[in-house]
Amino acid sequence: MATPTVALGIDIGGSGIKGAPVDLTTGALLQPRQKLLTPAASTPQAVAAVVGRIAEAFADDLPSDATIGVTIPGVVQHGVVRTAANIDKSWVGAPGEDIFSQALGRRCLLVNDADAAGVAEQRYGAARGAQGLVILTTLGTGIGIALLHNGVLIPNCELGHLEVNGHDAETRAASSAKEREGLGYKTWATERLQPFYATLENLLWPDLFVVGGGISRKADRFLPLLRLRTPIVPAALENTAGIVGAAALSAD
Ligand code: BGC
Repeated sequence: MATPTVALGIDIGGSGIKGAPVDLTTGALLQPRQKLLTPAASTPQAVAAVVGRIAEAFADDLPSDATIGVTIPGVVQHGVVRTAANIDKSWVGAPGEDIFSQALGRRCLLVNDADAAGVAEQRYGAARGAQGLVILTTLGTGIGIALLHNGVLIPNCELGHLEVNGHDAETRAASSAKEREGLGYKTWATERLQPFYATLENLLWPDLFVVGGGISRKADRFLPLLRLRTPIVPAALENTAGIVGAAALSAD
């Protein structure tokens, strides 16, 4: 079978579910993305119905046998969702890939949201061409992590939950913690991000950190305040990385 040049990526987040067809040569969206609200009770059935509506909107843009790439903010092992830190707890143990495949009537590939974003940044974005160990971190409601070594993804790395100074790191260093506690950029960077990234670099010795999540648009306000030996750069794809990475992985 020839490698597809277009694939649909759908990114499930705590507040919105977004999807678009992606040009796999460039990583560009081929149509404006569709965004629908994540259902208040974000159960597997409710989320699958919304994902189905997005897939339907782009049905004419895809070959009928195309696999659809879908992300979720949790660990996904062999198509089964294992954790659900920021979505409905009924996802834990749910056969997510089968649920989406049935709802969409097509094959689906389900991946962790940060893993998808990491693949997108490595293939098309801020880590394009980077060798060695790249760590993508997404700072949002939680902290997502993708580990890529020489471009190869090591999936389901949950170091956003690393214990740092006695706390689950994401409860202190995610951008949601900055908002919740009303922290300014300087306090957040020096007191929360600095110990998190320093712990990561001391344990893993990466070659590059890439920082994604909505707040990466303001990277100039906090990345220059960090004192790290590892180069650290903002993500390039911003809020399309999950869509693009899911689409890319679905075509592999
Ligand atoms: C979850 C990860 C997810 C990250 C970003 C964390 O709370 O444990 O699986 O990638 O949030 O959504």
